[in-house]
Amino acid sequence: MAVTILVGCQWGDEGKGKIVDVLSSQMDVVARYQGGNNAGHTVVIHGDKYVLHILPSGILHDRVTSVIGNGVVIDPRALVEEINEVEGHGFGINGKLMISEQAHLILPQHAMLDRARELSLGEGKIGTTGKGIGSAYGEKMARRGLRVCDLRDSKKFTEKYRSLAFYCNEMLEKYYGQEPIDADSLLDELLDCAARIRPFIADTVTYLNDAVRAKKQILCEGAQGVLLDVDFGTYPFVTSSNPSPGGACTGLGISPRFIDNIMGVVKAYTTRVGSGPLPTELLDQVGEDLRKEGGEFGATTGRPRRCGWFDAPAVRRSLQVSGCTEITLTKLDVLSIFDEIPICTSYETSEGSTQLLPFDMEILKTAKPVYESMPGWKVPLSDVRDPKDLPKETVDYIKRIEKLLNTRITMASVGPDRRQTLCLD
Ligand code: GDP
Ligand code: IMO
Ligand code: MG
Repeated sequence: MAVTILVGCQWGDEGKGKIVDVLSSQMDVVARYQGGNNAGHTVVIHGDKYVLHILPSGILHDRVTSVIGNGVVIDPRALVEEINEVEGHGFGINGKLMISEQAHLILPQHAMLDRARELSLGEGKIGTTGKGIGSAYGEKMARRGLRVCDLRDSKKFTEKYRSLAFYCNEMLEKYYGQEPIDADSLLDELLDCAARIRPFIADTVTYLNDAVRAKKQILCEGAQGVLLDVDFGTYPFVTSSNPSPGGACTGLGISPRFIDNIMGVVKAYTTRVGSGPLPTELLDQVGEDLRKEGGEFGATTGRPRRCGWFDAPAVRRSLQVSGCTEITLTKLDVLSIFDEIPICTSYETSEGSTQLLPFDMEILKTAKPVYESMPGWKVPLSDVRDPKDLPKETVDYIKRIEKLLNTRITMASVGPDRRQTLCLD
């Protein structure tokens, strides 16, 4: 498999970071294709935990080249902070990281605008990470954005930055009634960041296409999840990019013709951070238990994640859009505490019964999950290293999900560590 796209098939936090790290040992290149530092991808290596927000999760492997693609939005200050942190942990970056010259920049004003908009929405807020993602992608689409290539020339960067800052300040002040920010007070820091980033700036499109031609093993790492996709997710409670596989082609400049494999990462239950519909959400003690057992707190914002049972109509919609050739099922070990494990197989809605998550929020709001129940296994799974040692009830649970989704489950994850991964094929 030369080019593999890895996507989260729920509302993010499926365990993509862990699975990318596991697969990275067989990869030459790992490339992030969308999103920004709204992502929080956790990798655990021999008990040590690393959370990556903007750097690809392959960065912790010596022989992997990490690429930040053109479809990503980059906060220069956050990127430099993360590079320093990873280097501080003893991982080399030099010669291993390439940053697309076309990727757009998140500037300090974007985070301010993101937060001001959320404040103005009150109860109807999206519950963003506050990192400025939507504002930066907005500028990109409005063709006002600054790009990584603008970091090459300090003088030109300063001009463009000042002009965009003026526009953002007008919005902040006149539209949102907030204090403007003193753009020039941040300029020196941004220029320092530019100097630090400059050696990594590259034509990643040519690099990746040469790598494809040379039959290198390339893993395209999705952030967020398909149900947060701006086109296919629970709009408007989504992020501002395309985590679905199409986003990998546009976000890296690799033709769909060269994609060999699309791997979906699916959590054995459901979580979501921020606002928006979550049909199987458990607002009772069971939801609390799931959150506690799964450690379901945001890797970026620390917010408690909303938790619910496995939702087949939601994942089916993701798979329809993604065409995943296989699935990795994560966090099975978390379900060991339950006597019975309900699975949502379909919804009853105002428009009748459906097997697929509706796109129309007005209909989705009325969705009542229809459940069937599977017996729990009630034994810890975290020490299982051979699929033959999985309890029968766990195998039945995996098989049932596989059948409901009509897609092969080829890997299972029973803990956060690299070693807690089972190959089922
Ligand atoms: P990502 O955004 O998809 O990379 O996922 P996050 O890192 O935000 O959240 C997943 C969390 O679950 C992290 O804390 C991981 O260390 C952890 N994790 C991943 N796989 C497993 C698993 O199979 N079992 C358990 N218990 N934790 C896992
Ligand atoms: P990873 O890659 C879970 C959610 C936010 C909010 C919505 C929009 O770790 O899976 P944004 O800041 O993107 O404008 O917020 O999307 N969100 C995520 N939820 N995991 C993520 O990333 C997310 N990135 C954004 O909570 O609901
Ligand atoms: Mg995450």
